[in-house]
Amino acid sequence: MLNPNSLEARDIESVIHPYTNLDRHREVGPLVIDRGEGCYLYDADGKEYLEGVAGLWCTALGYGEKELVKAATEQMEKLSFSHLFLGRSHGPVIELAEKLKELSPVDTARVFFVGSGSGANDTAIKLIWYYNNAIGRPEKKKIIGRMKAYHGVTVASASVGGLPINHTDWDVPLPGFLHTECPHHYRVAEPGESHEDFATRMAEMLEQLILRAGPDTVAAMFAEPVQCAGGLIVPPETYFPKIQAVLKKYDVLLVADEVITGFQRTGEYWGCQTFDMQPDMITCAKALSSAYLPIGAVTVPSYMHDAMIDQSTKIGSLGHGNTYAGHPVCAAVALRTLEIYEERNILDHVRSVIPAFQERLATFADHPLVGEARLGAGLMGGVELVEDKATKQAFDPKRIIGLKTLEACQKHGLMVRAIGDVLALCPPLIITEAQIDSLFDRFSAALDDIEKTEV
Ligand SMILES: Cc1ncc(COP(=O)(O)O)c(C=O)c1O
Repeated sequence: MLNPNSLEARDIESVIHPYTNLDRHREVGPLVIDRGEGCYLYDADGKEYLEGVAGLWCTALGYGEKELVKAATEQMEKLSFSHLFLGRSHGPVIELAEKLKELSPVDTARVFFVGSGSGANDTAIKLIWYYNNAIGRPEKKKIIGRMKAYHGVTVASASVGGLPINHTDWDVPLPGFLHTECPHHYRVAEPGESHEDFATRMAEMLEQLILRAGPDTVAAMFAEPVQCAGGLIVPPETYFPKIQAVLKKYDVLLVADEVITGFQRTGEYWGCQTFDMQPDMITCAKALSSAYLPIGAVTVPSYMHDAMIDQSTKIGSLGHGNTYAGHPVCAAVALRTLEIYEERNILDHVRSVIPAFQERLATFADHPLVGEARLGAGLMGGVELVEDKATKQAFDPKRIIGLKTLEACQKHGLMVRAIGDVLALCPPLIITEAQIDSLFDRFSAALDDIEKTEV
């Protein structure tokens, strides 16, 4: 019985938790986190947890980074708020936009700022619609997403996403959003199908979808380089080149959702570079500010920007934007984050620890509970737990094996993410090799516990 004055009891009485079983939460209550430092979190009782999932795939520089605290404090003291409406601007947002243009691997004429990953994808969808209206293609509006994709929770970003939990009883997807197959070889490939043949089949399925919908009505496809919230799904090597050939054929834009994969996570600065994508637009958030403050961004190519200028002439103004778009404190912290990535050679560091991370991850393929160890995504990976390794038979979802494994990890002082029965790992980019070892030792102990108690 909880003390009614405890934080746990007060949470149960007052907070609605996203992505939580609200009924179970009334019984088990929250895990109250008190503070963080580097790659570690500490709960209200002082118990230490190694951060295995960078918060929500976002705390790239870990916790308690003094430089970012300083950047926020200084900016807040100087100019705590200023907006971008009606042509107003400020130094941090200008410098941040310039920096993102420099870092972008694709044609980026301008950058549009938002407050989240969902907001970035929502804005990208609207800009694509606006663009096609501007250039006289009002029919070309349909947006393609993929099954198990996650692009956020606004009405449009949830529509392009393909996770049942974001659709069931939420009255989305909206009409005009189509979904193609998820490129997960382990679960979706036909018996004996090679990765190459599977990628070819995925591209053929996409083409069939576009032809059925009518190519003149299809505007864009959204894709995460690695489908993270869908269960850490790493596409076959030739998937994106094959997909892009189809998109080009029918003049369909490609948006790379880099909300998780951006900023060095995969061992290149952008996930699209690792996975051979040449997107028309990039959406990003999370590690843009190392999650110290909420900010997201959309890169806008020259041809789209030209059309937006024409629209402004015709309509009088760009009718889109949030109060907090390009918030000066968020922008100052994001700018400092990007500077720190360079000053500390975070990309080189990530590349130096990826082999250790991937090697330890690969060893879990032999664990009796593991159906697939999801390799090849840089400093990010997952393991799928199955009832029967040979037949790939999943556990009955009612047994909540993934959630129980997450709880066992927490018992062993490790934060992970459970996506059904997939356990996802995505530590801060600053993690050391010794900490990677500790992460997998704790993970292994948790899996062994589950094997003893659940199998
Ligand atoms: C690939 C991807 N896109 C978009 C989002 C949504 O971002 P946010 O939660 O900041 O709205 C997420 C969140 O995890 C994500 O993983």
